[in-house]
Amino acid sequence: MNGCDNVAMILAMSRDGAIGHRGGLLCHLAADLKRFKALTMGHAVIMGRKTWQSLPNGALPGRQNVVITRNPDFQAEGASVAPSLAEALALTARHEKRFIIGGASIYREALALVDTIFLTLIDADFPEADTRLPELRLEDWLTEIGDFTPADERNDFPTVFLTLHRPD
Ligand SMILES: NC(=O)c1ccc[n+]([C@@H]2O[C@H](COP(=O)([O-])OP(=O)(O)OC[C@H]3O[C@@H](n4cnc5c(N)ncnc54)[C@H](OP(=O)(O)O)[C@@H]3O)[C@@H](O)[C@H]2O)c1
Repeated sequence: MNGCDNVAMILAMSRDGAIGHRGGLLCHLAADLKRFKALTMGHAVIMGRKTWQSLPNGALPGRQNVVITRNPDFQAEGASVAPSLAEALALTARHEKRFIIGGASIYREALALVDTIFLTLIDADFPEADTRLPELRLEDWLTEIGDFTPADERNDFPTVFLTLHRPD
């Protein structure tokens, strides 16, 4: 076992490794939001300060929210604040499942720890995106292919849900 049994990463990434632009997500994907909610509800979600500040309605309800920041005075309504990923994991230790929900800096640090990644692969390229995760190479993981969602009025691009497992 490489990392923590009950810690997973969850993210949406484009074919060219983009995950965000101008502090927000790349596009609107209702199917991805639904999957995110279904997987994380009732559990703990751990995020960087910038991702926290990008949430449109503040703390995600029904989940223990933990925000990582180096600012010891940072206040986050409805969330716990941690000075490091290690501290965030300690704060959420009682949870059966914990999810690293971004952004790039926290994903980068967590990649070495997690054995499972819930990835929504967006079938598009975003050459203009300013936040990328080239460190996540699909060829390094065993891929379980899940549902495909076509583009429609609620999903800007087609997506496929993948579950990535770290090889033994
Ligand atoms: N596609 C997706 O699934 C997805 C998911 C989440 C986010 N995103 C996108 O990703 C972008 C944000 O990512 P980001 O990398 O810029 O920001 P981020 O990871 O959300 O937050 C970065 C901040 O976290 C804190 N931090 C990071 N590492 C730390 C450490 N080791 N110790 C203590 N604090 C630490 C720092 O906060 P302080 O500066 O306060 O110290 C840092 O400025 C946005 O565009 C967002 O929409 C995409």
